[in-house]
Amino acid sequence: MAEDPLDPEKLFSVQDKIFANRNLLETSHVPEPDRIVGRDREITTLAGHLEDALLGSSPENVIVYGKTGTGKSLVSRWVSQRIEENAPEEVRIATTRIDCSQDTTETQVASSLARTFNDIGETETNVPLTGLSASNYWKLLWEVLDQRYDVAIVILDEADLMATDNPLMRLSRARENGDTNTRIGVVAVSNKLQYPNRLDERIVSSLRAKELPFPPYDADQLTEILERRREAFRDDVLSEDVIPLCSAFAAQEHGDARKAIDILRHAGKLAHKEEADQVVERHVREARRLAERDRFMETTRTATTQAKAGLLALAVLSLEHDQSVFTTSDIYDRYFAIAHEIDLDALSMRRFRDILKEQAFLGLLESEKENDGKGGGIHIDHRLMDDPQLVYETLMDDERLAECSFDF
Ligand SMILES: Nc1ncnc2c1ncn2[C@@H]1O[C@H](COP(=O)(O)OP(=O)(O)OP(=O)(O)O)[C@@H](O)[C@H]1O
Ligand SMILES: [Mg+2]
Repeated sequence: MAEDPLDPEKLFSVQDKIFANRNLLETSHVPEPDRIVGRDREITTLAGHLEDALLGSSPENVIVYGKTGTGKSLVSRWVSQRIEENAPEEVRIATTRIDCSQDTTETQVASSLARTFNDIGETETNVPLTGLSASNYWKLLWEVLDQRYDVAIVILDEADLMATDNPLMRLSRARENGDTNTRIGVVAVSNKLQYPNRLDERIVSSLRAKELPFPPYDADQLTEILERRREAFRDDVLSEDVIPLCSAFAAQEHGDARKAIDILRHAGKLAHKEEADQVVERHVREARRLAERDRFMETTRTATTQAKAGLLALAVLSLEHDQSVFTTSDIYDRYFAIAHEIDLDALSMRRFRDILKEQAFLGLLESEKENDGKGGGIHIDHRLMDDPQLVYETLMDDERLAECSFDF
């Protein structure tokens, strides 16, 4: 008998041979405390900096920084939740987390803060979503805080992506300026290792923040993190080498737990798509590529065509010459030709340098100053952090850049 294509058993692929609970591998998933691995020191230190909140006193300001996927957001969120839960009845504590990659302007940050801390039933104050100036949103925030809370802890996640550091200034000075009586603690989180050093003197002296670096995970810790999410899969579905290989790949880069989890999730999805019974090494190798692609796409999502053309120039040079390091002027020449080909107004060399700096800041490329020897001059060498082929393929998905053609 011919197979019925509409057989309900076949129609939906929800019958899952691979996953038991896929949620455990989603990036938004917050693991239970017993699934947090190797962060006792960071948790204890952060809790120590913030604990005065429980007495109704001012918590310290903290700068949490470290490479991507080292558990900064997880630990900050986790500790602030514990503080809220353990607040004694007589101390009114609120905590919130602002994602500064979404709320980038001062107005957006102030508006989000005023809205999350507000409860119109209690304050009879309405905080409109948009339409006010930053200073009016700050005013509303102070009003709301004064009415509702003794202490507020504000996590500014991805703080380096804010268009201005003014919010750090406003929040850390609020009490001494007499804006509010609420005691405010700021936790600024960044995956830029240079972040604490890049802050303006004025901000530094006003924050007087404790610095809390997050080191990368080693392969054993990554393995442990993945082991504790093994329940995402059905029994016996993971072949023996899968978890160690995911960890090894993620450790090779810099010990990035997100990368490790992403690779494992992609490997599972690939096996599921193939209707395989097991996840095997081959799936992991392919998954690694998908995870890298995801990450590159995410980082370049909001990049300008100019910035993408600059990255493409470096990728193309690397592919054409089978080497990876190029000087600013080599890249500029290649970029200039690309810009010409797609009718993009080429930037001046000076602006182009800024673009390369920004891309280095985002972690997409690495730049190093080189001395030219006795003659005296210096130049800067750049190299892509990701595989040039992958960068090339991903960028060529961009409508504008797809108009270029290369012969390699
Ligand atoms: N110690 C850990 N134990 C268990 N899971 C972890 C641990 N550290 C990180 N993870 C998981 O890895 C992923 C990335 O962690 P997190 O978002 O905290 O990284 P991050 O340091 O904030 O990175 P980024 O700088 O890119 O924002 C999350 O899914 C998180 O749950
Ligand atoms: Mg984070």
